Amino acid sequence: MSKGKLDGRVALVTGAGQGIGREIVLKLTAESALVLANDLDADRLAALQADVARAGGTCEVFPGDVTEKDFGDRALAECLRRFGDLHILINNAGYIWNSRIVNQSDDQWYAMLDIHATAPFRLLRAAGRHFRQMAKEGHATQARKVVNISSISGLFGEATQFSYSAAKSALVGMTRSLAKDWGRYNATVNCVAFGFIETRLTQAFEGEAPQIEIGDRKVKVGLDAAQVELMKGLIPLGRAGTPQEGAGAVYLFCLPESDFISGEIVVAAGGLRM
Ligand SMILES: NC(=O)c1ccc[n+]([C@@H]2O[C@H](COP(=O)([O-])OP(=O)(O)OC[C@H]3O[C@@H](n4cnc5c(N)ncnc54)[C@H](O)[C@@H]3O)[C@@H](O)[C@H]2O)c1
Repeated sequence: MSKGKLDGRVALVTGAGQGIGREIVLKLTAESALVLANDLDADRLAALQADVARAGGTCEVFPGDVTEKDFGDRALAECLRRFGDLHILINNAGYIWNSRIVNQSDDQWYAMLDIHATAPFRLLRAAGRHFRQMAKEGHATQARKVVNISSISGLFGEATQFSYSAAKSALVGMTRSLAKDWGRYNATVNCVAFGFIETRLTQAFEGEAPQIEIGDRKVKVGLDAAQVELMKGLIPLGRAGTPQEGAGAVYLFCLPESDFISGEIVVAAGGLRM
């Protein structure tokens, strides 16, 4: 494979078994980044690794639950062990567990905060300690990159996504705070807030909502078919985004061309702002 734009850069991507995360790994490795890919689903990670290898790229896998208390430190240690550094961190793992506040259980609230706020916090803390060390040792010549994945729900709210939107909002504050803190390490911190991207979380259904498994928990996902049509009508581009397009938005913040952009929240929603 000829040298890509991210040659020699080491990236860690969470939630990479399918959907947007998988496409992020395919994109980064196609541009010669060395990627450590995480997901709950080890089989999907193995399939991803094989696809990357077939395309001539490098991807190692790190199955596991990002909400485990020591995940951040372990994932960083694994990156250093396999590739010797960490330059790009993508906090992507996530899922929806929807309801209005009046029907919300404590479990739901904590699950959404754990996966979208606490797990990224621990990964960011581990990465920050590494970035600080690298800066001290004079290895901060090329900008390090963090991209946090939020949602238009986190920016504008959504009645049926009370705790999800609260947790996705937290990522906005975290992004802006770290952008102010980590300039000293030559690290940029940005956030992509997705609108409607076609993945299993947003699959159209008629009748009973489909369920996905997150560990030992079953969660209803998807959008009612009529709601899908309504949503598409509201999107100025007239359609949902593809996971590849989602990955494209994240990739922009990994490029050296974006080295002077930090603390930004970019909405990737086909022009929708609501
Ligand atoms: N699809 C959309 O329209 C949309 C919109 C806004 C934001 N997002 C966000 O984009 C991100 C990716 O979502 P997607 O649509 O690709 O979903 P997806 O379900 O297709 O993929 C998410 C992946 O994350 C993994 N995951 C979930 N919990 C995990 C955990 N505890 N530890 C490790 N991995 C875990 C899942 O196994 C899955 O492979 C999520 O943070 C989601 O909230 C998606």
